[in-house]
This record gives sequence, C-alpha cells and structure tokens, in this order.
Amino acid sequence: MINERENRSFEDVKKQAELWIREASQYIKEKMKGTLSITTKAHQHDLVTDVDQNVEKFFLDKITDKFPDHRLMGEEGSFEQIKDLEGTVWILDPIDGTVNFVHQKSNFAISIGIFHDGEPIIGLVYDVMGDELFSSLKGQGAMLNGEKLPALTKNSLNEALLSFNAGWLLKERGLEELVESSRGIRSYAVAALEMAYVACGRLDAYISFNLAPWDIAGGYALLQEVGGKATNYTGEELTFLEKDTLLAANPWIYDEILEIARKK
Ligand code: IPD
Ligand code: CA
Ligand code: CA
Repeated sequence: MINERENRSFEDVKKQAELWIREASQYIKEKMKGTLSITTKAHQHDLVTDVDQNVEKFFLDKITDKFPDHRLMGEEGSFEQIKDLEGTVWILDPIDGTVNFVHQKSNFAISIGIFHDGEPIIGLVYDVMGDELFSSLKGQGAMLNGEKLPALTKNSLNEALLSFNAGWLLKERGLEELVESSRGIRSYAVAALEMAYVACGRLDAYISFNLAPWDIAGGYALLQEVGGKATNYTGEELTFLEKDTLLAANPWIYDEILEIARKK
C-alpha cells in the first residue's frame, strides 16, 4: 500500500509523465509528415516503426534522468530487463495500434501504467490524433481531458457494446454467443484505448486473447478507478509480467460474459 506522502509524490510523477506524453506526441506528429521506416515483426499483423522505437528511447532517457530509481518495461526492448514489479515500474507502449498508425495515421495511443510494488498507481492513455488524454491516480479517480469520469453504472449484456478484433471469431472461443446477445460489436485495434473506452462507458467490455503487459497496464489502472473489472478471459488475475488473454468490462456484465467464456 502506498501512503499519503508517496501518493503526493506520485501526483508529481503523473504531471511529469503527462508533459512527456505531450512532447512525444509532437514528435510523432512531425514524423508522420515524412516517410516512416516500417518493419514487420512476428507476422503481417505486427509492425514496428522507427517512431515506436524512438518514443520508447525518449521515455527511457527521461525516466533514467529524472527518476533514476524507477524502471521501464517498454515494448520495444526495455522489457527484457524487467523480471519483476518491485519498486516503481513504468509499463509503456510507445505506440499502441501501430497498424492503425501506419495505415490510417489515426486511432493510435501512447499508453503508460505506472506500478509500485505490483500495484497500479497511475494510468495514462493518450489518443494522439484525437487529443484525448485518459488519466488516473490511485484513489483519486480517472479523468478524460481533466474532467472526472463517473463510476461505471448498471448495465445488461443486451444493451452492451463490446469490442474485440474480428480475427478472434475464427478461434471457437464462444464469441458468437456474445455477438448474438449484445447490442453490438466494435473493433478499434488499439487495446489501450479500448480499455479506456470501457472506463468511460463508450464500450462495456473489451476482449482479447493475446496481449502483453504494455497493451493493458495503462487501461487497467484507469479501470480500477471507475469500478471496472479486468482479468484474463478465464477470470484469473493479470500478472503484468507475461502475455495473457483479457476480459475488461463494466462490472455489471463481467460475470455474464465470464459465464459464456467458461462454456468453451
Ligand atoms: C496491438 C494492438 C492491437 C491488439 C494487438 C496488439 P501494437 O499493439 O493493441 O489492438 O489486438 O494484440 O499487439 O502492436 O500496435 O502495439
Ligand atoms: Ca500494443
Ligand atoms: Ca506498440
């Protein structure tokens, strides 16, 4: 548990992180005017650009300089040093939604979850082109562009909007039942933002079957502050140290979705 003094110092960490997010976003927008250097990673759905790598390097340099006792777990390499969540760890996706970044030049985010001894303290998810900053500090609620987000309210599956990538329908996971029972399915292909949308009620649940800690850490911290629930797809706690499935949901429909998930 963090005490009041630590909480005040995390307020400063949050302010600093927000400034760096703005700075990194300016860099991203500038680079978008030129030619991106794009590399395919594991398969054609998995891209990385020089911008992803440079944004991570930017945060690594800034954090090392300003907070030398903090550590960084970032997608583009710095995760390799991190084997536990002791002390203060920044979990960073420098660009979440790189396929959108490359193909659409919109619908991508910078995502940061700052954890202390394994506990989510700060959540920051910034939609760069939409200029929407979702932020949270433990015990103080979550905000969207400075406006406090209300706690999630009662909902039912037949009135819920869900989100998952269409590809998961090919895998026999029981998602067809969710398509039939819910109000509708959306797909944004930017996990951090989809979790932020659950936190602000634009979506009621987001489901995925292969996410890394940096995809979900920022969104997870946001959800804690509005009463949202996030576990893996079989209802177990997330570890933030390895890849896992995800069910992030409004608490009023979480159990119903889990029941459908468990039938498979
Ligand atoms: C990806 C996005 C996408 C999700 C993938 C992630 P990246 O992150 O969040 O929505 O479906 O599993 O890998 O590669 O764009 O940072
Ligand atoms: Ca990602
Ligand atoms: Ca990424």
